Amino acid sequence: MPNLTINGRTMSVDAANDTPLLWVIREQLQMTGTKFGCGAGLCGACTVHVNGEAVRSCQTQVGDVANKKITTIEGLSQKGDHPLQKAWIAEQVPQCGYCQSGQIMQAASLLAKTTSPTKEEITAHMDGNLCRCMTYSRIQKAIQRAASEMRTASNSSDRRAT
Ligand code: FES
Ligand code: FES
Repeated sequence: MPNLTINGRTMSVDAANDTPLLWVIREQLQMTGTKFGCGAGLCGACTVHVNGEAVRSCQTQVGDVANKKITTIEGLSQKGDHPLQKAWIAEQVPQCGYCQSGQIMQAASLLAKTTSPTKEEITAHMDGNLCRCMTYSRIQKAIQRAASEMRTASNSSDRRAT
C-alpha cells in the first residue's frame, strides 16, 4: 500500500502499485475535480501536479508517486482564489467545464516557472489539453490575465521589501 501525499495530507491508500493515480484520486479519495477523459494520456482532463510538474494522472502509477508531492485542483489554492481561478471567472472561460480543471492545472505549472510567458509559449505548453467546447482563445486570455496579476503582485511585494 503506497503512501501518497496529496494536497498536503499524507495517507496510505489501498491500491496496487500499478493502479493509475486518477483512479485513486477519484474513486477512493472522492476528489472528483480531476476528470476522466480519454484514459490514454491524450486529452489532459486528468492533469495534476507531481512535485510541481503537470502530469496525466491516468498514465501515472501510484507506486511511482509514493512520497512525492501531489496537488490536485482542490489543493491548488486554499480558497479557490489562485490567480488562474480568478482569471478563469473574469474571462468566463468554461463552457461545459469538463476539461477546465485539467486546463488550469496545466497552466498553473507554466506560471509557477514564469509569469511572463509569450503567447507562443502558452500555446505550446497548453497544446496537449483538449477542449471539445473550443474555449482555447479564452484560455489564452485568462492565462495572460493571471500572469499579469502575478507580476503585479510580485512587483508590489518587491517594493514593500525595499
Ligand atoms: S484522461 Fe488522462 S489524458 Fe485523458
Ligand atoms: S469547456 Fe467543455 S470540454 Fe472544455
